[in-house]
Amino acid sequence: MRLFALSTAITLSFPCITWATLLWPAPQSFQKGQVELNLDTTFHISAPKVKYLQEAIDRYTELITHERWTPIQVNITQSNQTVAGRTLGSLDIIIKDKHQALEFDVDESYTLEIPLNSRKATLRSDTVWGSIRGLETFSQLVQSRPERNDKGELVYYEDDQEEEDADNYGFEDLFIPNAPIKIEDYPKYAHRGLMLDTSRNFYPVSDILRTIDAMAYNKMNVFHWHITDSHSFPLKLESLPELAYEGAYKLHQKRLVYTKKDVKQIIDYAYQRGVRVIPEIDMPAHTGSWAPAFKDITTCTGIHYLDESNDWSKRFAAEPGTGQLNPVLNKTYEIVDKVITEVASLFKDDWYHGGGDEPIYNCWNQDKDVQDYMKKHNATGVDLLELFLKKELESIHKSKKTAILWEDPVTNDHLPISKDVIMQVWINPVQLAVKKGYKVIASNYNFWYLDCGHGGWNGNDTSYDEQIAPKVPKAVAEALEKSGEEDNYRPQNWGGSGGDWCSPFKSWQRVYSYDMAFNLTESEAENILGGEVALWSEQTDTTTLDARLWPRTSAAAEIMWSGRYDEDNHKRDIGDAMPRIFDWRYRLLQRGINTEALQPLWCGQNPHMCDANHYPVVLK
Ligand SMILES: *[C@@H]1O[C@H](CO)[C@@H](O)[C@H](O)[C@H]1NC(C)=O
Ligand SMILES: *[C@@H]1O[C@H](CO)[C@@H](O)[C@H](O)[C@H]1NC(C)=O
Ligand SMILES: *[C@@H]1O[C@H](CO)[C@@H](O)[C@H](O)[C@H]1NC(C)=O
Ligand SMILES: *[C@@H]1O[C@H](CO)[C@@H](O)[C@H](O)[C@H]1NC(C)=O
Ligand SMILES: *[C@@H]1O[C@H](CO)[C@@H](O)[C@H](O)[C@H]1NC(C)=O
Ligand SMILES: *[C@@H]1O[C@H](CO)[C@@H](O)[C@H](O)[C@H]1NC(C)=O
Repeated sequence: MRLFALSTAITLSFPCITWATLLWPAPQSFQKGQVELNLDTTFHISAPKVKYLQEAIDRYTELITHERWTPIQVNITQSNQTVAGRTLGSLDIIIKDKHQALEFDVDESYTLEIPLNSRKATLRSDTVWGSIRGLETFSQLVQSRPERNDKGELVYYEDDQEEEDADNYGFEDLFIPNAPIKIEDYPKYAHRGLMLDTSRNFYPVSDILRTIDAMAYNKMNVFHWHITDSHSFPLKLESLPELAYEGAYKLHQKRLVYTKKDVKQIIDYAYQRGVRVIPEIDMPAHTGSWAPAFKDITTCTGIHYLDESNDWSKRFAAEPGTGQLNPVLNKTYEIVDKVITEVASLFKDDWYHGGGDEPIYNCWNQDKDVQDYMKKHNATGVDLLELFLKKELESIHKSKKTAILWEDPVTNDHLPISKDVIMQVWINPVQLAVKKGYKVIASNYNFWYLDCGHGGWNGNDTSYDEQIAPKVPKAVAEALEKSGEEDNYRPQNWGGSGGDWCSPFKSWQRVYSYDMAFNLTESEAENILGGEVALWSEQTDTTTLDARLWPRTSAAAEIMWSGRYDEDNHKRDIGDAMPRIFDWRYRLLQRGINTEALQPLWCGQNPHMCDANHYPVVLK
């Protein structure tokens, strides 16, 4: 890479190149001009000496000087952008409260001003956390001036030609287009999360740290760590070492566990980036992995999840991997309390996720003690769930945590759970839990489950073996013809769902379309604290993690930060978002996140030519 010497007053002898300034997630308010402002080679970011802020400045200085971003669009036009007569010397950060801890609803707003009549840009926020969001935006504004030959033409290298290493150029040749700039920004939702399941398949710590980096780039602030489930118990606890010792995966003579040191590293790394880490130890269902250490406190473990009849209504678990905690034994609650007490102390965040989803009563029915208890107390399975959750919530509250549960106990089983427990909604409309008086985190599976659409994972599922299109039953054919729906008929495994309960795959457009407040009144909508995308790991591990998460999680991140509706109350348009998310995907890739491709590169470089509906563009 060849660099230009930059002087303060440049008249370019060739046409300027303008690429749009593409920000993700979109700021709430963005005023821009038509001038390119070069960064001075001595450019620096200054701020009060506050630990997390200084660390963020170091990170972003490193990122800006190494990223040297040039947008992917080859939309090169003679433009009206002029180059400023002066360079930008510094970004000065001003914060009001240096000590505000990272917690729910912390003020993350910021104002970023990049004027032309001064050598200083200013980033103002109430808290360190707002500054960190503003630094991210600033980093996205910076572009690198591409190399040209003497005639002013862009230089392109071929594969076998080596580009010079971009290292060590510092701020040389970096500029901010579209100055002067004023951005006033704040998140629409306070809780902007990603849930990762580390039980069904294990991820090394480095995967989790990289995921947290990507979350911070997307201004997300909650890593919901679904640590354990029926399949493995990867968390080493000092009070109960046998849980991970026996229950963690063992592979090639390694025990796949997270140590206390790993947990601390993840929490600190996330905190520095404004990301809270909320642990979840799911119970009473999803606990088969407790059985290798404590078989006596579990029921129905180690059996096929269906009985001989294959009748779904008689299943013992929601999926292969049976096991539930026995709700009628005192020993169960002694162990549960120890687990919660230690996990609550390991994780400094005020919130704790207690799970509580998918109780399968037929699993409890298999146990003699449970049966006796039910007879003696005339109790139903739902009564046992109520008993269990009451004791579990007591333990969570004893550790001074705000509890979150999956919604099932209140929306499906109508239990009278205290209203200060936050409900994470996944299967029913947000409306149900909100109308019952709960605050909610929205994670509807039909939009925000990122695992969906990869086919079934059962062994010996013979229904795939169809060599010719299955015959459409006569009655169905007639009904389809009458309704004109023939094209939408997709029998299982014939271009159909492929055996996956939540198929199809949720494309980024689908993820982007989730309106968490759908059909809610304004006051009802205030009970939505935010949302989370979820990645359940049946069919994912370290090899596929980044591509499953990104850039689809970015689509959700914009909905959570910017809102489904813009400031004029217009629904955000997928067509407008497309060129931005396309560019953002490449930018994440350059930042080391192995994001999945969205379209042919041609589509990204020729914006709107691949839109589903006619768009009046003509290529020159
Ligand atoms: C590409 O350039 C054309 C002008 O030739 C402009 O109308 C269009 O908006 C640009 N596209 C983007 C995404 O900036
Ligand atoms: C650029 O400037 C010319 C002449 O001043 C004007 O006609 C044109 O509309 C401007 N184009 C843009 C994209 O602002
Ligand atoms: C279980 O605990 C309860 C209350 O602490 C006590 O009344 C009961 O006797 C205990 N049951 C057994 C079997 O230890
Ligand atoms: C047992 O509980 C059911 C409700 O779950 C109730 O209808 C029934 O009367 C109860 N039986 C006794 C003997 O208490
Ligand atoms: C696979 O399933 C088929 C029928 O569903 C059965 O006949 C066959 O025995 C099964 N094979 C194994 C190895 O279980
Ligand atoms: C919208 O909300 C109303 C009133 O709460 C309810 O009756 C209706 O079924 C909801 N519509 C949908 C599509 O959920």
